[in-house]
Amino acid sequence: MIGAGGFIGSHLCEKLMTETPHMVLAVDVYNDKIKLLLEQPAGRSHQNTINLAAICTLADYNKRPLDTIYSNFIDALPVVALDVSTNILSECLFLYLFFWCRCIFCLAPELKKKMYSIIWILLMMVIQVRYCSENGKRLILFSTCEVFGKTIGSFLPKDHPLRKPRVQRMVSSLSLIISNRIAYGVVNGFFGWRCLRSLNWIGSRMDFIPGVDGPSEGVPRVLACFSNNLLRREPLKLVDGGQSLRSFVCIKDAIEAVLLMIVCLHFNQDPFYFKWPYLYIFNVGNPKNEVTVKQLAEIMTKSCVRRPHRIISPPLEVPTIDVSSEEFYGEGYDDSDRRVPEMTIINRQLSWNPKTSLHELLASTLTYQRKTYAKAIKRMMENPTAT
Ligand code: UGA
Repeated sequence: MIGAGGFIGSHLCEKLMTETPHMVLAVDVYNDKIKLLLEQPAGRSHQNTINLAAICTLADYNKRPLDTIYSNFIDALPVVALDVSTNILSECLFLYLFFWCRCIFCLAPELKKKMYSIIWILLMMVIQVRYCSENGKRLILFSTCEVFGKTIGSFLPKDHPLRKPRVQRMVSSLSLIISNRIAYGVVNGFFGWRCLRSLNWIGSRMDFIPGVDGPSEGVPRVLACFSNNLLRREPLKLVDGGQSLRSFVCIKDAIEAVLLMIVCLHFNQDPFYFKWPYLYIFNVGNPKNEVTVKQLAEIMTKSCVRRPHRIISPPLEVPTIDVSSEEFYGEGYDDSDRRVPEMTIINRQLSWNPKTSLHELLASTLTYQRKTYAKAIKRMMENPTAT
């Protein structure tokens, strides 16, 4: 598993190693999130290749667009090629965790025309499917909610009656691309393809805390940003007022869905695939946990007020402050105003439903954040020059 030391990788490793007969060969430049697992005794043989290495933080899409494309696509190709050419694996399931969709947003500021990036994505998909098809490999493409882009309401004037969340046209254009890709695979007799879209998976070991286990000038995703603010007892920063909506799902629930996908694909439980390929594009998220970013900040702060000894301290006076997106992320930031997963297909096909409520999820995550980072942050604040 490449990128096994990251947020999703560490949870997937843990699940595979503790609850299934799999042995995991973990590859990463860091191992702090999987150290405990590394001490477990080795098992039998390797079955699957999983690539989780990717850049997935908003600030990096803006500031390092080409790095993002390299990390998320180009650098990953030799991994696939190596496996295919050395033929190490007799039956290989490629869980190809691949954040290709965000390339649209990365390329756009540089190439000015989003059309180019859509063509680029289409080409990438064709290459991947052909690879797997020709070599009899199975592929789970790990996409993200980025495919949904913005909602149509976000383009209307602020007081417009229709200014409410609606899925914008980009959904249909990207869905078309995905359908083309699947159709291409089917034409070539390749049916071992599934697509999984992650929608705001959160939990322990997510991202990093700037200056502690990541660059001090880095900007992680919202959960780590807010935890960092709370640990430092400083106001939580609401980008452009924090009105964007997100549905957060517990990483542990999401990993259950990934395992179900692996099992279904492995045993070829696909009676309807040829007729309705779109039935195998799964949204993995939790619509019940939908909140605005502002509400998220309030829930996290309240959790801290209720259980300060078990969690982390709330800000001293002002709980939140508004910051402009330009100030926070730099020029060119393009937020998505709402993301909520449509669950019909995943419910029907995998009988999967997330279980963890947002309050439960945030309480356990904040406890983890305090245990992991509180001391280091305190030291850093007492001796700022050392960092
Ligand atoms: C990010 C990635 O860009 C997606 O590719 C990925 O699929 C997604 O996370 C995910 O986790 O599934 P996004 O939800 O926009 O997408 O990322 P966050 O950085 O968590 O931001 C969420 C919202 O909080 C944004 O509106 C952002 O502007 C806001 N925010 C973030 C704040 O208001 N304050 C902060 O300190 C940080």
